[in-house]
Amino acid sequence: MTLPATMRALEASAFAIDSLKLVERPVPAPRRGEILVRIRAASLNYRDLAILAQAYLPTLPLPYVPASDGCGEVVAVGDEVTRFRLGDRVAPIYTQGWHDGKPTIEMRTKRTLGAPLSGVLQDYVAVPAEDAVIVPGHLTDAEVATLPIAALTAWSTLEEGDVKPGDTVLVQGTGGVALFALQFAKLAGARVIALSSSDEKLARAKALGADVGINYRTTPDWQVAVKEATGGRGVDIVVETAGATLDKSLASLAFGGFIGVVGFVAGYEAKIPLRAVLGPMIRIQGIAVGSRARFEAMNRAIALHGLKPVIDSTFPLARGADAFRHLASGQHFGKVVIDVAGA
Ligand SMILES: NC(=O)c1ccc[n+]([C@@H]2O[C@H](COP(=O)([O-])OP(=O)(O)OC[C@H]3O[C@@H](n4cnc5c(N)ncnc54)[C@H](OP(=O)(O)O)[C@@H]3O)[C@@H](O)[C@H]2O)c1
Repeated sequence: MTLPATMRALEASAFAIDSLKLVERPVPAPRRGEILVRIRAASLNYRDLAILAQAYLPTLPLPYVPASDGCGEVVAVGDEVTRFRLGDRVAPIYTQGWHDGKPTIEMRTKRTLGAPLSGVLQDYVAVPAEDAVIVPGHLTDAEVATLPIAALTAWSTLEEGDVKPGDTVLVQGTGGVALFALQFAKLAGARVIALSSSDEKLARAKALGADVGINYRTTPDWQVAVKEATGGRGVDIVVETAGATLDKSLASLAFGGFIGVVGFVAGYEAKIPLRAVLGPMIRIQGIAVGSRARFEAMNRAIALHGLKPVIDSTFPLARGADAFRHLASGQHFGKVVIDVAGA
């Protein structure tokens, strides 16, 4: 295949959604050990919004190409690549270099795609062959593009929480991470309680398998409703995407329960009573997406069970800024996707 010399990239020239513009960039040549991926689809994460709002990585050099999650085809390989062949459909991993176990601090802070490393909202991306995975064959490119952060974070949280059949899992909201956590918890044989600001979204979460839905806007003391819904016992695992609600999550837990602290959509700070952690022997664990080995294990589960990610909407690359605005509006249910290969 003859590759073009230049490609389209959606570049942010300032910390503002309005600054996102299509520009022309040279197509990178894969170096030794690298693959060149023709990106077909990408998806957005809350992180991408937070970076553009300068609320996360505030000293990131401009301009930059956002977004971490993509799916594409291997169109060129550098010397010494044995892991992939031309035509393979792959997803680059978010934390480059994190293959198994725990990452180093350098990987976590300097080697993440979509800032500080150049992101996937461009036609071609070169990554080390070791830093991409083969993707489940039954999924569309758009569906695959939802996996690298949102799905893997949900998977890691449940794995860190030792999810078992019969457990009860609390998921907060109906965004990307929460809906994957709902789906994986059901696969694991758990009961799921879902929170949302919208009754209509709760009905959709129930159609996906949620056993109980609680509107956190009309029931601000939702921890009481969670305890009631579990006969007073509490939940085993909380997938904490809201952050500032940690005190309520603690009050929702069963003895010996687990909170995976994933996100901060309700704010970065929480005040918690230590007695609620000590006495009931609670585990609280920060979550940072996951390793390549976990990504591959997750993909096996997704393929075995024919699991389909929930896509809210798809925007063409040229309208990428609208995709960010849509995510910021909070109207979405599941993932917002960008069709990179389309017109
Ligand atoms: N640590 C990690 O590895 C990791 C990985 C991925 C994401 N995250 C973080 O996790 C969070 C969620 O990410 P995402 O990509 O899934 O976001 P998202 O798709 O934008 O979803 C956010 C959802 O949060 C819900 N929400 C808002 N305020 C809430 C509140 N006060 N209580 C409960 N739910 C609330 C809303 O659901 P409703 O509309 O249904 O109310 C909204 O749709 C973000 O903070 C993100 O940065 C962290």
